[in-house]
Amino acid sequence: MAQAALFILLIRICFNGVYRVNAKNIFNSSFGTAIKPIIYQKENILEASRMLQKVEILCGDFEQTYKYVENNTLVFFDPPYKPVSKTSSFTSYSKFRFNDQEQIRLRDYCQKLHNIGCKWMLCNSDIPDENFLVSYMHLLLPVV
Ligand SMILES: C[S@@+](CC[C@H](N)C(=O)[O-])C[C@H]1O[C@@H](n2cnc3c(N)ncnc32)[C@H](O)[C@@H]1O
Repeated sequence: MAQAALFILLIRICFNGVYRVNAKNIFNSSFGTAIKPIIYQKENILEASRMLQKVEILCGDFEQTYKYVENNTLVFFDPPYKPVSKTSSFTSYSKFRFNDQEQIRLRDYCQKLHNIGCKWMLCNSDIPDENFLVSYMHLLLPVV
């Protein structure tokens, strides 16, 4: 319980509430800029707890979800976004880098889901078509 409370405090006072680690798996989000951050709202936490009672949370690579999907499953992806510019290149929440190869692997996984009739949603940055291969949103649109 104390650990959960400390975790909530940590992500509420760090930059954008992002939990990020470095290559050594050590937490390294920077300080947040909010002057008076709201640390928690009791009703919100209780409601989240209620909603999560029947939820199984898995931690792993997105492709590991395949054994849980059926043709009537809706899969929502919120992956690290492809950087919109060379200076906004944050894609690393963990020691594993979510680079263009990963974006392509995710695109191929979405295609695989589509092929079995599974519905999916994904958010990502809308980047100019600097490289057609990695700008996979353009490739996906015809198949959804
Ligand atoms: C934009 S954040 C999503 C944040 C999340 N929606 C939330 O509200 O906390 C991208 C997430 O993708 C996760 N991620 C990175 N590589 C992944 C992978 N190969 N498989 C599954 N998740 C991955 C990161 O750890 C990070 O939590």
